[in-house]
Amino acid sequence: MRVLIVGGGGREHALAWRLAQSPSVKAIVASPGNPGIAALGQCVAEPATISGYCDLAHAYSIDLTVVGPEAPLVAGIANEFRRRDLKIIGPTAAAARLEGSKRFAKDFFRRTHIPTARSGESLSEFGLPVVIKADGLAAGKGVVVANTASEAEASLARLGPNVVIEEFLDGEEVSFIGLCTGTSVVPFPPTQDHKRVFDGDQGPNTGGMGAYLDPGILSSAQAGDIMERIMLPAVRQMAKEGTPFTGFLYAGLMMTPDGPKLLEFNVRLGDPEAQTLMHSFRGDLGEVLRDAAGESLPTLNTAPPSVSVCVVAAAEGYPATPHTGDLITGIPDAEATGAVVFQAGTEQAGGQLLTSGGRVLGVTTGGDTLQIAIDRAYAAMAKIHFRGMHYRRDIGRKGLNRAREARRW
Ligand code: AMP
Ligand code: GLY
Repeated sequence: MRVLIVGGGGREHALAWRLAQSPSVKAIVASPGNPGIAALGQCVAEPATISGYCDLAHAYSIDLTVVGPEAPLVAGIANEFRRRDLKIIGPTAAAARLEGSKRFAKDFFRRTHIPTARSGESLSEFGLPVVIKADGLAAGKGVVVANTASEAEASLARLGPNVVIEEFLDGEEVSFIGLCTGTSVVPFPPTQDHKRVFDGDQGPNTGGMGAYLDPGILSSAQAGDIMERIMLPAVRQMAKEGTPFTGFLYAGLMMTPDGPKLLEFNVRLGDPEAQTLMHSFRGDLGEVLRDAAGESLPTLNTAPPSVSVCVVAAAEGYPATPHTGDLITGIPDAEATGAVVFQAGTEQAGGQLLTSGGRVLGVTTGGDTLQIAIDRAYAAMAKIHFRGMHYRRDIGRKGLNRAREARRW
């Protein structure tokens, strides 16, 4: 099978890396791809239009297309592929509204009775802190947690009238991702992202500074609860409404004392969660994705997943104003330790690897325990260098604390 990957970040590099090891996959093409993916397949420039991706799939005799980012999905890439009889993993534009419109999503949660934060129209309905979200795709920058009334008023003025106001939920966030076939869901192991730029969850939100996969993030009762109360009802309701959901469905959850509550759905794999999911994935990913694209339920390897950690190295100034064009060294040395380095904001220029975006790369490792995987990730990261590079030193720490607390009981 020949696979086209749409996108060019760390998530797409991880997909390409795992697909390259699938016996069913003969060739990988990525658009636009990145220098890391170029070592595993062919990278071709991004077409200007959605139908341009279909032309590309025809030109490269592609059997299956996998879409990384949300924007082409929200723009209807899956509709166009299906119309032209091309196999693709990803929801239609109508189903992608679960991520594309916060207002659609909130109304959907309500009519599906999915546990979520209480939302309303005016600040007076809520105490403090209060959460204000801009409608539409905002790459994580459209959400404000306001601690004071004046901050809330100012955010409301800045974000305009098209906002959702909701109660603040306290707890730990978990990323729960499933592969959907229109009527059912196959869950992946739970992962946890680190959204804030600095250690201890300080500083502004980012796309994600690191993630880890550890089955211990959720008990099996909690995972079952999430499937029964959130994932399966969502997929069943989407089918009932005539907009069946196929592809990766990512529930961003807050684990509250009252159980899991859904903050948001994303209609794709998380980044950097995907790096850990792909790292610990066992089996033939090509086959699994082909089954899901054909709407038959894929079978995942049910052996307990191994732990995996991804630490992201970001460019100076990220997330506000990332500096680009800095020389990256040490990736081969990092990989010689056994780590896998997934590239994201990198470019090849004049025979050198340079930074070209905010999140530059993610060092990904596995291990028998979370502590081992974390230590390996940081040992590998120490080999890598670019000017202004910064990364969090506490990726996975919540997982270590959780394990310690569990031991005490
Ligand atoms: P979203 O784009 O909806 O995922 O929001 C981005 C981030 O804002 C989430 O990952 C949470 O850290 C935070 N957030 C969103 N909604 C809430 C909420 N109701 N209560 C607490 N934090 C929230
Ligand atoms: N890591 C968060 C996201 O992909 O949205």
